[in-house]
Amino acid sequence: MADTVSRRVVVGISGASGIPYARDLLETLRRLAAVEVHLVATDGARRVAADELAVPFEELASLADVVHSNKDVGAAIASGSFRTAGMVVVPCSATTLSKVAYGICDNLLTRAAYVHLKERRTLILVPREAPLPLPSLEAMVKAAQAGATVLPASPGFYTQPKSIEDLLGFVTQRILDLLGIEAARSPRWKES
Ligand SMILES: Cc1cc2nc3c(=O)[nH]c(=O)nc-3n(C[C@H](O)[C@H](O)[C@H](O)COP(=O)(O)O)c2cc1C
Repeated sequence: MADTVSRRVVVGISGASGIPYARDLLETLRRLAAVEVHLVATDGARRVAADELAVPFEELASLADVVHSNKDVGAAIASGSFRTAGMVVVPCSATTLSKVAYGICDNLLTRAAYVHLKERRTLILVPREAPLPLPSLEAMVKAAQAGATVLPASPGFYTQPKSIEDLLGFVTQRILDLLGIEAARSPRWKES
């Protein structure tokens, strides 16, 4: 059971551009043995996905082990007693970022993020917005002070990426590292 808990992760998808980052993470997690993925997506995520994915959102969702309705604030991931290794919101919209920063729990995704903060568990927020206005910058500071890690979707170029997949993989690798999940999705600096 302890191993199940340590390999259980929550993936939240909100309505920011960058749904392919979520797809890459879910595909990578799918390839890893014994990772139990709980997915929750906002209506905004489904809207953006319609523009950014070549397949229906359900195909993306099918990569997860459990798909929760964002309306179901009684789902397992809404409770701190349901143990996880952590949660990532990828991509994280300005709206969801601000809700998380200020403890607003008006849907399952924001409630699960709140739970990860209150339980002092890993919470990673992956905003994509650029440029960033003051409300989002302040929300990032608030979220970081509350214990979240803000990991902008801004891949590095020192790995000499050759494709979009390489750029996506860079961000996926950083997410997995922060979640403590062993994976070799992207090259590391000065590691063969
Ligand atoms: C194609 C498309 C791209 C969008 N990109 C972003 C974005 O990069 N960042 C952002 O904060 N909002 C973006 N939005 C707007 C959000 O989806 C919208 O504010 C939504 O209400 C966010 O709510 P949610 O966090 O519950 O998903 C985009 C909307 C559309 C339709």
